[in-house]
Amino acid sequence: MEIISYSSGILKMLDQRKLPFSAEYALCKNYKETIAAIRNMVVRGAPAISIAGAYAVAQAAEGGYDIGNAAEEIMSARPTAVDLSNGVHFMLLGISEEQEPEALAREWENSIYEKCKKLCKHGAELIKPGSRVLTHCNSGPLAVGKYGTALGAIIQAHKEGKNPFVWVDETRPRFQGALSSWELLQEGIPHKVITDSAAASLMEKTEVDLVMVGADRICKNGDFANKIGTYSLAVLAKHHGIPFYVLAPSSTQDPSLKSGEDIPIEQRDEREVLEPMGTRAYNEKTHAVNYAFDVTPAGLVAAYINEDGVFEGFP
Ligand code: MRU
Repeated sequence: MEIISYSSGILKMLDQRKLPFSAEYALCKNYKETIAAIRNMVVRGAPAISIAGAYAVAQAAEGGYDIGNAAEEIMSARPTAVDLSNGVHFMLLGISEEQEPEALAREWENSIYEKCKKLCKHGAELIKPGSRVLTHCNSGPLAVGKYGTALGAIIQAHKEGKNPFVWVDETRPRFQGALSSWELLQEGIPHKVITDSAAASLMEKTEVDLVMVGADRICKNGDFANKIGTYSLAVLAKHHGIPFYVLAPSSTQDPSLKSGEDIPIEQRDEREVLEPMGTRAYNEKTHAVNYAFDVTPAGLVAAYINEDGVFEGFP
C-alpha cells in the first residue's frame, strides 16, 4: 500500500488518523494544506514528515509563493523532529542552485528510503532469534514512507526468519501503538499491546530482551528526543540491564545542538490528553499538559543505528 506519493502538484498521503479502522488518503493540493496535514498528524514520524515537508516546499515554489516565508511556516509545523528542517534546508539549497523543485523533493524522499533500508538491516543484526523486543510509538513503514526505523528493523529480522516477538506500547495520547500493531498484523509478526506503564513489570519478569525505538532529533552528545515516554523506558531498561537501542537515519542527527537541553519540545493541545479517541474522559474544568516528546540522556543508550552501521556514541 503506497503511503506517500506526489503527482501534478498534489501530495497524497495515507491518513494515519483514520488507521487502523480505514485506509483513506488525504490529498494536499498546496503547501498550506500540506502544513495542516503535518501539524494535524495525517502524516507522522520524523522521516515521513520530512518528506511531506520537502514536497510542501516544492508546492510553494510551484505556486509562486515566497519560499523563505513558506520554509519558516513548514519547519514550525512540528518543531522537534529535525528531519523536517533538514528536508526544508535541502530544498532551499537546491532551489537556490536553480534545480527543479519536484525533482529535488523526490531526491530527498529517495535518499530517506535508501538510508532507512540500510539501517533496518543493521538493526536486524542486533536481534537474536526468538527475541522479545519492546518498542514505543510508531517507527514502521508508515513513519518513513517505506521500510521504517526501529519497527522496520524488527520487520527485517522477521523476514530473515528470526521470529521476533514484539511488545507494543500503546503510546498515549495519540495511540501510535495502534499503527505499529496494524503494521505488525500485516507482516504476520506476533505481538501484544501493553499500556505505557506496563514495561517495568514485564522487564522485572524478564520478558523483555531488548528495547528498540526511533528518534526525532539526536544531539552531538548523543542525547535524543523521541515520543513522550521514551525516557522512562530507557531508565527502566538501564535498571534491568536490558539493551536500549536508538534507530534513526542520519537525517535525524543534529550536530549543531550540544545536548538535549537545547531541543525544542513540541507541546500540543491539551484535548489530545483529555479527549482520548475524541471522547471527553475528564471533567470540563480539568486541564492537562501535553508534551509530545521527551529527551533521553545519552548515558542510557546502548547503541545508535543509522545507515552506516551501529555506533556506541553519536554516529
Ligand atoms: O508525534 P509523532 O507520531 O510524529 O512521533 C513519532 C515518533 O516519536 C517516532 O518515534 C519518531 O519520529 C521516529 S519514527 C521513524
